[in-house]
Amino acid sequence: GLTTSAALARRPAVTGAELRSAVPLPPAFQVPLPVPAVLEPVTTSGGTDRYEITQREASAEILPGITTPLWTYGGTFPGPTIESRRGRPVTVTHRNELPLPTVVHLHGGRTPADSDGYPTDLVLPAGGHEAHTGHASAHGPAHGMHDPRAVVTERTRDYTFPLDQRPTLLWYHDHRMDFTAPAIWRGLAGLHVVRDDAEDDLGLPAGPRELPLMITDRSFAADGGLAYPSLDPSLRERPGVLEPYLAGVLGDVILVNGAPWPVHEVDAARYRLRILNASNARHYELEAVTDDGRRLDLVQIGADQGLLAAPVTHRLLPVAPAERYDVVVDFSGAPVGSRVSLVNRLGSGRTRDVMAFRVARRALDESRVPGTLSTDLPDWRRSDAVRVRDFAFRAGRMRGDHGWLIGGLPFDPARSDVAVGLGEVEVWRLVADVHHPVHLHLVGFRVLSRSGRPPLPHDAGLKDTVSLRPGEAVEIITRFDGYRGRYLFHCHNAEHEDMGMMANLEVV
Ligand code: C2O
Ligand code: CU
Repeated sequence: GLTTSAALARRPAVTGAELRSAVPLPPAFQVPLPVPAVLEPVTTSGGTDRYEITQREASAEILPGITTPLWTYGGTFPGPTIESRRGRPVTVTHRNELPLPTVVHLHGGRTPADSDGYPTDLVLPAGGHEAHTGHASAHGPAHGMHDPRAVVTERTRDYTFPLDQRPTLLWYHDHRMDFTAPAIWRGLAGLHVVRDDAEDDLGLPAGPRELPLMITDRSFAADGGLAYPSLDPSLRERPGVLEPYLAGVLGDVILVNGAPWPVHEVDAARYRLRILNASNARHYELEAVTDDGRRLDLVQIGADQGLLAAPVTHRLLPVAPAERYDVVVDFSGAPVGSRVSLVNRLGSGRTRDVMAFRVARRALDESRVPGTLSTDLPDWRRSDAVRVRDFAFRAGRMRGDHGWLIGGLPFDPARSDVAVGLGEVEVWRLVADVHHPVHLHLVGFRVLSRSGRPPLPHDAGLKDTVSLRPGEAVEIITRFDGYRGRYLFHCHNAEHEDMGMMANLEVV
């Protein structure tokens, strides 16, 4: 069905205030859209693809004429894209040459716990010190840091991903305890695509007509750096800055694949846009608007965890932090020579614009969007569930300070929060005070209801992140299968996550 504005009538409040950039900002739709380079494996022998990524400081010209220092995967923001086939294991050797400890998590990956990037499971920096941050010491990770053997063995780390899962767009990002938000903000995020033959055979738009769109917001300090409250003393002292930090940090510049308000030249044809909201805290409601004010259909074909059963057509697509939406847009619906803008209805002023497509030429289009996209979606019933659990996502006190809590508690790596049985189906009821995008590691889930009503059109398919809107109660259902071990669930507003809104999920 078509998403109506009525279905979205209870709009999320935009929380937090934007950090204002202290450098001149370019006009929209001038910078070409970059597509992150695909990483070459170092070897593909032994049935595994092996990759190496060095985490290091680098700089980039994100805004024209301005140099921005970054923390990167392999020297770029976003990091390099990894392309994989379903069921073919991948090992990524991460080498940490940053001046801070890091943790790598493959978001949406069905990954054994020891490669899932638990927040205290650190890759230590070369030299084993913690310049810059002075931050991680409070929580255990410091142990072993002065043991030279530990330092040597842990500054590189092999993460192994079986990728035995539905094909989809995953992303990898930092996940260190209390420090995920600044690490992602400074550049530690990249894409990982999983494909399979069945999806390849559907005839969806492909090649240059498939585009990943990693959408983030950032603000730039006077020196060109990415301004972030807890890292920048001058910002810390400015009145009113703590407030947005608590709600979540918002930037005043929208980047797509690391470029400000970019433009991309397209054929008058169908394109597959693989949208990821990698922003720390910003929510989007996207529409594709033509020069003459018409809205093109956003035909959703996939969710966080892969293809839907059948396409769902939206005019307005809400995208919460960490969510992915796989959509097809037919640019033949706009005249050659015109422009189609991707607009965020929740933005104001310059943050309304996201990017634009310039329809350059007529072209042959042999792609299609089949009426049946997949037949393997799990269809768990309430009656399959062995348990129903309730979790409240609410503000509260943490270590004597403002925090964000699940069930009244801030994250504690030493506490056991939830133990689920391997293979068991459970229903979770999640309630929220303000807007919280809730993410479960290891599993995909389905949305059963929103405050007693049926799920919204964009809740379709298999998800790993669900947007809880203010005051809402959302029911999800999943089967905890795959691997035993210690995983997590948390709010993916990265500042909320760092301020405690995370809990342990043990699969036993
Ligand atoms: Cu995108 Cu726990 O992470
Ligand atoms: Cu939250």
